[in-house]
Amino acid sequence: MAESVPFPVTWITGASTGIGRALALRLAAEGCTVAASARSVAELDSLAQEASPLPGRIVAVPLDVTDPADIEQAYARITGELGVPDLCVLNAGTYIPVNAKRLKAADFETQFNLNVMGTVRVLEAVIPGMVSRKSGRIAVVGSVSGYRGLRTASAYGATKAALINMCEALRMELGDHGIAVQIVNPGFIKTPLTDKNTFPMPFLMPVDKAVEQFYRGLLTSRFEITFPKRFTWMLKTLRLLPYAIYLPLMNRTTKAD
Ligand SMILES: NC(=O)c1ccc[n+]([C@@H]2O[C@H](COP(=O)([O-])OP(=O)(O)OC[C@H]3O[C@@H](n4cnc5c(N)ncnc54)[C@H](OP(=O)(O)O)[C@@H]3O)[C@@H](O)[C@H]2O)c1
Repeated sequence: MAESVPFPVTWITGASTGIGRALALRLAAEGCTVAASARSVAELDSLAQEASPLPGRIVAVPLDVTDPADIEQAYARITGELGVPDLCVLNAGTYIPVNAKRLKAADFETQFNLNVMGTVRVLEAVIPGMVSRKSGRIAVVGSVSGYRGLRTASAYGATKAALINMCEALRMELGDHGIAVQIVNPGFIKTPLTDKNTFPMPFLMPVDKAVEQFYRGLLTSRFEITFPKRFTWMLKTLRLLPYAIYLPLMNRTTKAD
């Protein structure tokens, strides 16, 4: 039984709701032990409870990824109680729309501190253990909005572009040490995050369907995991267009405020 468990010890950030929560349950269904992290203690406790009939288990490890001391304590607890993670999913993040006319530096700071630095702080904690064991898998949740500039996403898209670029570099360097780095770029997935959006979300995907594709991608050696495929391939095509075509095209097809 133990041999067939894909990632015996997994650490997921942003596991209290949405994609992270559904992925924690999916992995526990495979027999994995999942350290589930986020700020909401009550949500994490209910998640651990929800996993109790499953073959694996979910252990609530509350933390705030903007607080380095929280991460240090959480990592010490995970390695002490469960062992060095075989898989680390860096998923905690948020989207704050930016209206360019009323641009606020604080909105950029908040999103960079959470989406980028929150990821980097956890990386600093997990990489040394994986390097000394010469094995491990790190999956960073980016977004297709990191491919190119999109309206209202000047801050969010920039954080996700930073994560995509960072993972390309880490993939090469950490690959030399037996660690697989993957970037996960979802399109629109139905979660508490997108429930707040008032604009049309093409190809909006239910979270369980999205997480099934996420999970299957983790079992491969591919660098990038994307879903839903039809939407992400459309955006990949747009990524290839020169500015002279991309900018007027997007200007016409996305709504001005
Ligand atoms: N849904 C989509 O369409 C979509 C598309 C592309 C990419 N993504 C990315 O997918 C990831 C998950 O998003 P989601 O849609 O599942 O949204 P969500 O339901 O809002 O989940 C966000 C998670 O991050 C946690 N979090 C927020 N701030 C945190 C902090 N300071 N420290 C620790 N955890 C924190 C939240 O928990 P607490 O509030 O309890 O801390 C929650 O568990 C994000 O990185 C998002 O950018 C989502």
